Amino acid sequence: MKDQTARDSVEIEITGLSKVFGQGAAAFSALSDIDLTIRTGEFFTLLGPSGCGKTTLLRVIAGFEQPSTGSLRINGREVAGKGPNARPVNTVFQNYALFPHMSVADNIGFGLKMLGKPRAEVAATTADMLRLVKMEEMAERKPAQISGGQQQRVALARALAPRPRVLLLDEPLSALDLKLRKEMQGELKRLQAETGITFIFVTHDQEEALTMSDRVAVMSAGRILQLGSPHEIYHAPRERFVADFIGDTNFMELPVARLEKGGAFVTLPGGSETRAELPEGLTPVIGEKVTVVIRPEQVQMAPPDAAEMTGTVESATFFGTDTHVHLRLSDGQGFILRRQNSARTEEPAPGAVMGLKLSPGALRVLRD
Ligand SMILES: Nc1ncnc2c1ncn2[C@@H]1O[C@H](COP(=O)(O)OP(=O)(O)O)[C@@H](O)[C@H]1O
Ligand SMILES: [Mg+2]
Repeated sequence: MKDQTARDSVEIEITGLSKVFGQGAAAFSALSDIDLTIRTGEFFTLLGPSGCGKTTLLRVIAGFEQPSTGSLRINGREVAGKGPNARPVNTVFQNYALFPHMSVADNIGFGLKMLGKPRAEVAATTADMLRLVKMEEMAERKPAQISGGQQQRVALARALAPRPRVLLLDEPLSALDLKLRKEMQGELKRLQAETGITFIFVTHDQEEALTMSDRVAVMSAGRILQLGSPHEIYHAPRERFVADFIGDTNFMELPVARLEKGGAFVTLPGGSETRAELPEGLTPVIGEKVTVVIRPEQVQMAPPDAAEMTGTVESATFFGTDTHVHLRLSDGQGFILRRQNSARTEEPAPGAVMGLKLSPGALRVLRD
């Protein structure tokens, strides 16, 4: 159950947090200047490439690592310096780590038993959890007798059983094949909605982050580059790294023709001027080039006389739902456009000259 008041309250507040491993010449800064507020009941995702510090941040939140500097408050209480048992947090690891000799039910009840809960309570909660993850019929099986996806459900049930306020999930789906992964993505969303527990989910998969999260923090080299809803980070990336990491992207270097409130008019290859959104606080210099980003699905083909710019087709690849067309613009820059195949149309032939129209609001200047 999620009620709106709970959702608006702060669950985790991290300020000025850093983590340095090692000392002296061997010191390595795994996390720098992390400021982060996570709301109660939120599905929050840390997204970034391998090695950017996602697991380290989760381990700091869980209490397996201590921050080098900064504050970490969970549900209003400072927990920096305290161990894992002092916080209402549980973790699901990538390699489920079930006990092989224990049944599914005993695996789920294990944590509660360790906490010294009465036998009747352990049994009742275990039964609830088995129902929650739809594993009632397999309660007596051993981990080796169930599939990978089912093991993942058991690991989730085990982590949810002590009713933590916050569940940390470190790439929990990456060991599953694509079809199972999709299924488990839906299951995770359902579990989170049904329990109302705050989920902090780690992935390097941008699609997973976009489809599952309330908000996403994009990380690179130990820092959070941008934090926002999936829409914000996809449609309004502030930096090149974010634009590049999330989805296919065209980058163009274009001169600024003039400025207006919140936007800049840039000159497209071929000479026409069009408006590009500006990130807050950036004022480019007229006549100088800026980096502009445009998503391949925000460009449409048009007859050359009705177009804002033209390109020559280099190749076209059919993907079923859409076709990716690689073009060379009149000034020599490469450009990719994605055509939705809503009708059964011929693929554009290499060498053909194609007019291009941009969706309104499609161009954005990057901070770079
Ligand atoms: N205990 C440790 N000692 C030294 N370096 C570490 C330690 N743990 C992680 N690192 C380094 O910190 C960086 C971030 O690692 P990690 O948080 O595991 O990244 P991610 O989960 O995003 O792939 C990596 O360069 C890794 O080698
Ligand atoms: Mg990791």
